[in-house]
Amino acid sequence: MIKTTLNIAHRGFSGKYPENTMVAFKKAIEEKCDGIETDLNMTKDGILVVCHDEKIDRTTNGCGYIKDYTYKELKQFDAGIGYGEEFKGEKILCIDELLDYIKDKNLLLNLELKNNLIEYVDIEKKVVDKIHEYKLEDNIIVSSFNHYSMVKLKEYDSTMKIGLLYSANLYNVHEYGRKLGAFSLHPYYPAVMNKEVVENIKKVKININTYTVNEEEDMRKLIGLGIEGIITNYPDRLNKVLKEAIKNS
Ligand code: G3P
Ligand code: MG
Repeated sequence: MIKTTLNIAHRGFSGKYPENTMVAFKKAIEEKCDGIETDLNMTKDGILVVCHDEKIDRTTNGCGYIKDYTYKELKQFDAGIGYGEEFKGEKILCIDELLDYIKDKNLLLNLELKNNLIEYVDIEKKVVDKIHEYKLEDNIIVSSFNHYSMVKLKEYDSTMKIGLLYSANLYNVHEYGRKLGAFSLHPYYPAVMNKEVVENIKKVKININTYTVNEEEDMRKLIGLGIEGIITNYPDRLNKVLKEAIKNS
């Protein structure tokens, strides 16, 4: 029997619903995902909000940088209507709304800090304090492409689980991950389509949660390699592939 790979919904069920909205999270959970990956930016008044881009132009009916709005101002925009009239009324969520919704669901939550282009002052402290407030230490992995930020977060609280995001084929990434105290590595999937690379990471007991895997063939390969988590826009598709893999094992 193969060890089951976790099904992590990327920005919620973003393949079919407006990304990073409550409806996308609810639908991912209805599909019985194991976890949710989502992105955090910070407002002018220091509130962490759920949005992939630093600007709201692509995903809402507003425009401009999140850092230039207060949270209250951001709430006036619609995060669903651009995806379809039936999603009108979806709002940009703040971290409290997300954690309050997640807290009793026994899900893995991957909070990705979007601080590789903008330096959000004290974002690490803010996210750690929220994780403690909701007692979700066991459920949450905080990740970022900004590894300075991940080190800073670990310095603030060494018990936190950090995930290192990267997209290239980094050399001896297992050694790097160990040095930084990573709980998991979060590579773009072509960087771990290699048995030796995966085995080396496994040897140092670091998990791999790879993104963003939407094709069944890639899912099958990664499950076969024993990857711990797959981040996908299609949790329904991944569940189907996982069931087949279990049946065939
Ligand atoms: O966390 C995995 C993945 O979401 C990283 O890239 O741009 O989709 O946030 P992006
Ligand atoms: Mg992300």
